Amino acid sequence: MMMTKWLGLELKNPFVPSASPLSRSLDAAKQLEDAGAGALVMYSLFEEEVNAEERSMLRSLHQQDHGGTGANDSPAAKAAFPGELDRYLEQVASLKATLQIPVVASLNGTSNSDWLQHALELQGAGADALELNVYYVASSPWEESEQVEQRYVELLKTLKEDITLPINMKLSPFFSSIGHMVKRLENAGVDGVSLFNRFYQPDINIHSMSLQHSLHPSGEADALLSMRWIAMLYQRVGCSLGATGGIHSAEDAIKLLLAGADVVHLCTSLLQQGPQHLQTIIDQVAQWMEEQHFETIHEFRGRVSQISVQDTSAFERDNYIRVLDTYSFKPQAST
Ligand SMILES: Cc1cc2nc3c(=O)[nH]c(=O)nc-3n(C[C@H](O)[C@H](O)[C@H](O)COP(=O)(O)O)c2cc1C
Repeated sequence: MMMTKWLGLELKNPFVPSASPLSRSLDAAKQLEDAGAGALVMYSLFEEEVNAEERSMLRSLHQQDHGGTGANDSPAAKAAFPGELDRYLEQVASLKATLQIPVVASLNGTSNSDWLQHALELQGAGADALELNVYYVASSPWEESEQVEQRYVELLKTLKEDITLPINMKLSPFFSSIGHMVKRLENAGVDGVSLFNRFYQPDINIHSMSLQHSLHPSGEADALLSMRWIAMLYQRVGCSLGATGGIHSAEDAIKLLLAGADVVHLCTSLLQQGPQHLQTIIDQVAQWMEEQHFETIHEFRGRVSQISVQDTSAFERDNYIRVLDTYSFKPQAST
C-alpha cells in the first residue's frame, strides 16, 4: 500500500534512512530493515580516505623499489590490515547478503579524478544504486557560480561513463537557482536528487579564539527548506526527488510526501531515538492514510506541490510580504 518508485527501483515504502554510522553495523542495518526501511543509504566512502590510502601504498611500493622490505604489502599483511576502500567494499557485500532491501552505496568527494573509478568496484560489490555527495564549499571568493555548478555536472558525467547503476545526487541548498541546477543534472543523466545536504559549519570558541568543530543536530524547521523546493520541482523535473534534513516525525514525513517527495530520508532522528523510531513513523503515516481514506502514496503525493495548489503565493514572494506584515510581536512581561 505504500509502494513507491525511486531511482527506477521499486521500494515497499518511501522511508529510506540516509547515510549515517548506522549502516556501519550489520545489526543496526538489520534493525532498520526490520523497522520497515524501504531501502538503505550507506555511510560515505570519502575521497580523502581513498586518496590517503593510495598515497601510502605508493610510498610503500617506492620504498620496496629502493631496497625497503615491502613486508606490509604482502597479501597476508593486506588481508590483516584492509584499507578503507576494502572495508567499504566488504560492507557493501555484507549488507547485500544480510538485507532484502536495496542498498545504496555513497561516495563523498569533490574532485573529478581517479578516485571516482572506485564506483565500478562498488557496483561490482553488489550495490543497487550510488549516491554522490559533493560536499563542496566554494571557499575562494573568485570562483564563479558557473564553475561551481560545472564541477557537479562533470563529476556526474564521469561516473555515468563508468557505471550503469542509477545515481542519486545529494545537493546543498547553496545554488542561486536550484531548479536550474537540478535540470542541468537531469540533462546530464542523474536519476535522482536528494534535497538538501546539511553543511556542518565550523564554530568559533571565544575562549581559545580558535575554530571548533561541533555537530548540531537538525531540527524540524530544517525540513521546511526541502519541503519548499520539492513542492516547486514536483512534476517539473523527470528525476526522482528525495527529501533529507530535519525529518523527525510522521507529520514531517507526510508533509514532504504531500509536497511531492518520492522518498523521505531520516538520519538524526534515528540516531537519537534508535532504528525502531522508523517503525513508529511508518505506523503513524499508515494511520493517517487510513483516516484520510488513502490506499496508496500515489493518491496524495504532490497534492500540496506548486502545480497542484490554487494559491501558489505561499511558495513565492507575496506570501513573504504577507507573513512579515501580519506578524504580531508580543514582548515578554518583565518580572
Ligand atoms: C553522524 C552523522 C553522520 C553522517 N554521515 C554521512 C555520510 O557519511 N555521508 C553523507 O552523505 N551524509 C552523512 N550525514 C548526513 C545525513 O545523511 C543527512 O543527510 C543529514 O544529517 C540531514 O538529515 P537529518 O536531519 O535527518 O539528520 C551524516 C549525518 C550525521 C548526523
